[in-house]
Amino acid sequence: MAKFPEGFLWGGATAANQLEGAYQEDGKGLSIADALPGGPDRFKIANQEDFDWQIKPDQYTYPNHNGIDYYHHFREDIKLFAEMGFKCYRFSIAWSRIFPQGDELEPNEAGLAFYDQVIAECLKYNIEPVITISHYEMPLNLVTTYGGWKNKKLISFYERYAKTVLTRYYQKVKYWMTFNEINSALHFPVMGQGLVSSNGAKEMKNIYQAWHNQFVAGAKAVAIAHQLDPKLKVGCMLLYATTYSYNANPVNQLATLKENQAFNQFCGDVQVRGEYPSYTDSLLKEYGFNFSDLETTPEELAVLKANPVDYIGFSYYMSATVDVTGETNETASGNLIGGVKNPYLKASDWGWQIDPTGLRIALNELYQRYQKPLFVVENGLGAKDEIDDQHYVADDYRIDYLRQHIEAMAGAIADGVDLMGYTPWGCIDLVSASTGQMSKRYGFIYVDLDDNGQGTLARYPKKSFKWYQQVIRSNGQEL
Ligand code: BG6
Repeated sequence: MAKFPEGFLWGGATAANQLEGAYQEDGKGLSIADALPGGPDRFKIANQEDFDWQIKPDQYTYPNHNGIDYYHHFREDIKLFAEMGFKCYRFSIAWSRIFPQGDELEPNEAGLAFYDQVIAECLKYNIEPVITISHYEMPLNLVTTYGGWKNKKLISFYERYAKTVLTRYYQKVKYWMTFNEINSALHFPVMGQGLVSSNGAKEMKNIYQAWHNQFVAGAKAVAIAHQLDPKLKVGCMLLYATTYSYNANPVNQLATLKENQAFNQFCGDVQVRGEYPSYTDSLLKEYGFNFSDLETTPEELAVLKANPVDYIGFSYYMSATVDVTGETNETASGNLIGGVKNPYLKASDWGWQIDPTGLRIALNELYQRYQKPLFVVENGLGAKDEIDDQHYVADDYRIDYLRQHIEAMAGAIADGVDLMGYTPWGCIDLVSASTGQMSKRYGFIYVDLDDNGQGTLARYPKKSFKWYQQVIRSNGQEL
């Protein structure tokens, strides 16, 4: 029988750019998500040599512009979250609502006023807000004028933004995260760092420079939060993909260890421990440069050291498998993280390999490494839902996926892991980050909207809605 601690933070997660819409309302500036075309090729298009971040409505669709119009539906949506019994709700603030161009000195009051209302609505239902400061939605101007996160100027822009929102909300919001899935930039730096082929993504040095700048910016946010109130909890947010060796061949085992360092561990090691890990030089040498080639200062390194994060937030969707010996050439198709197909696992409609046991392993690996509280802030199944004429979606496949992952969390808690909470991704259907589709749905709540932006926007609870309500009501006992 699953056991979760008293006060466990059950909830759901979303990101501003994927659901709010209203992309130019009340003074909001454009974000990078507004310039990404819809459809499974969005990253491919963004990485074409001539990609210039211009919005071309005659050529592409832009689903993030309207999202699911949460900007005008948030009261109704948060009410549904409350009906499910959410203890917390993880959402992000759109940086470009607060600083439309990213480099202004004064914030846009209308943007702040919007989040005043969102937070008030959560608190009305005793839902604890959990805020991601930057979730794949930096102001577009910071990319077109400054070249994205590889530019050190972004540290002070982010610092001003973080200070603005922390100061405004710290008395109401205890839980924060600095950057969504910071490590994802290793494989797709467009969303987290604003880097594409045409502005530097091809050089790994730029990605590591951008990370360094983000680490410093994030550490400054931690410092600001703790100055405002030492009880605030600021986490990092990692994309964690438990990584296995394809077999017992030591060559594959070593490659798996290296892959873990490069993807799962590097960013967390810096943000949690406050210093670059021992393997930094060997990692960077693989890419042909040294740590000393990066622009870092002793003051910045001191800021990192003084301001480690309080907890580790992470997303978990799938595991990855490494084979460098060519024993298999079956790649895990659709999987953003790459790797080969694991013969023991099934995959989602989009090719992501489903592995609940991998979550239990992830929780153990992270807790053993850092001994800080963990928070599973994203998990879920992106699937094609069929809605019947009663407006009902019988999404048993989603229930199965979530149930198995909740059981895995219970297992990890029994293993001794300190787990704070669970916020499944896209608790209401929203625009997919990697494919810009509405048809890749994660929600407990169906939104009547298709990939072409057609639909009534009506919200309908799915079968999983009642199921999750019962999970929360029983604190994870009734699965
Ligand atoms: C994570 C992101 O990568 O996974 C979310 O933090 C994203 O923004 C989620 O939506 C699911 O991925 P996708 O590509 O299916 O939307």
